[in-house]
Amino acid sequence: MIRHLYDNLMKLAHFPLTGTVLISTIKLNRINRKKMMRRKLVVGNWKMHGSIASNKVLLADVVAGVRNLDAADCVVCVPYPYLCQAQSLLQGTNVAWGAQNMCSTNDGALTGAVSPAMLVDYGCTHVIVGHSERRNLFHETDDTAAARFNAALEAGLVPIFCMGESSEERESDWTEYIVGRQLDSIIRRYGPHVLENAVLAYEPLWAVGSDKPATPQQAQEVHEFIRKRIARCDAQVAAQVRILYGGSVTPANAAQLFAMPDIDGGLIGRASLSAQDFVPICRAASQS
Ligand code: 13P
Repeated sequence: MIRHLYDNLMKLAHFPLTGTVLISTIKLNRINRKKMMRRKLVVGNWKMHGSIASNKVLLADVVAGVRNLDAADCVVCVPYPYLCQAQSLLQGTNVAWGAQNMCSTNDGALTGAVSPAMLVDYGCTHVIVGHSERRNLFHETDDTAAARFNAALEAGLVPIFCMGESSEERESDWTEYIVGRQLDSIIRRYGPHVLENAVLAYEPLWAVGSDKPATPQQAQEVHEFIRKRIARCDAQVAAQVRILYGGSVTPANAAQLFAMPDIDGGLIGRASLSAQDFVPICRAASQS
């Protein structure tokens, strides 16, 4: 009931665009037919793991392992205290680095917060925004995630904006409602064009940290939904935006996931903590 009300409201919100919706969808098909190539991207999210000593070994092994991969981009998002270490060990390599969150303002009396400008100071190129662990454990909302998304873009960082439903929401057939609402929190505020400089990540909560990855078909369905929803507003942006899948990605399932037409790489948790796992995932992305 609430979902239908919401969908109708969204249709109304898009009303001025309805003339272009059909045209955009036709254009998306045409652009897809031309097989617009999106470069694959693999992002490691270390979460709250690591130490100066173990990071040194891990980063050296990742750098060596991905040195010859030229068809995919590779990023590691490390805890704040290790940004300086990442900068000194990764500069000049083909591994970029970023953070897992940030504040939406650039300075002020905000104890414990880290600003976008500080991330830029440490050479970050990417920042994760709206991860489910931030939303659920630290009470972050669509509003605050959207504000951080915009602040990241303004600072010249690439936000990796996370979306995903819980297992209860999936069982109630609410996946599209939840993911659509999270995506719309950006598009309604800032327009579709901001996605040109961003990355999206679909991370179903039931697959994160669970050993129960989405099947390639399940993930593809939601990725296709996300791309089509963006295409309702801008087909060109929809065709070019990279949408990563996250949730129990391993070397064993990466290639099948990355082979799906709307999956452009992965956001990797546990498997990014070992070069033995992370490098083959990056290789699978580069070869797909
Ligand atoms: P896992 O790969 O450990 O399931 O974590 C996924 C994730 O949350 C990445 O952001």
